[in-house]
Amino acid sequence: MNTMIELKEVSFHYPGGNNILENINLKIVRGDYIVLTGPNGSAKTTLLKLILGSLKPQAGEVILFGQEAHAFRDWFKIGYVSQKTNFFNPSFPASVQEIIWLNKAKNALVASKSDPQKEIEEVLDLVGLPEKRFKKIGQLSGGELQRVLIARALINCPEVLLLDEPTANLDKSAQENLSNLLVKLNSDLGLSVFMVTHDEKIKGSAKKILELTEGKLSCKKSTS
Ligand SMILES: Nc1ncnc2c1ncn2[C@@H]1O[C@H](COP(=O)(O)OP(=O)(O)O)[C@@H](O)[C@H]1O
Ligand SMILES: [Mg+2]
Repeated sequence: MNTMIELKEVSFHYPGGNNILENINLKIVRGDYIVLTGPNGSAKTTLLKLILGSLKPQAGEVILFGQEAHAFRDWFKIGYVSQKTNFFNPSFPASVQEIIWLNKAKNALVASKSDPQKEIEEVLDLVGLPEKRFKKIGQLSGGELQRVLIARALINCPEVLLLDEPTANLDKSAQENLSNLLVKLNSDLGLSVFMVTHDEKIKGSAKKILELTEGKLSCKKSTS
């Protein structure tokens, strides 16, 4: 199946509010590398939460791997790196490997006949941080933490990765690093990527750029 995620005529409002998304149509297909931009408050994070099933649209359908979101169970196929990296208290005494393994989905565990040590090594290699495995998360730089959060999402071997402003708050070299990593995950592993960002470097390498303004989605760039 080529279409992984599809939104059909989706409209959404928070309780008591007006629609902040109106008749949104969107397809994320295998191999995609899509950037979603739009002003602050234009409902980009809300759109991701609708895909992740943590919010339900009042109208329209969210289809995940051919199933309606409410019936979908294979959540491990969708990796997610949220906008709030500060939900980890830096003084929380968890190590990098613990943070990664805590995200291991039960059904992915069964699917992969799990070998924690090997799998943690693999995802840390992928994000270029093999030596950080036993470090406490509070000892990481912002860029390293963001990479660990990507490794944490990759531990379930997702087919698509959703990221919400992954390079916000990073310095220029960490931004470039992360941009290169995401391109590599897409081109080498074939991981589909859908990400909210204003990062010019990432926008430059995106195959498609979508913009959300006043509840409507428009396409600003498409190479296919
Ligand atoms: N839980 C919530 N309840 C009510 N309104 C919300 C909630 N979360 C976000 N909003 C509002 O919805 C709008 C879109 O928010 P958000 O999706 O976070 O935008 P973006 O990610 O594009 O900055 C904003 O006006 C925000 O204040
Ligand atoms: Mg947001």
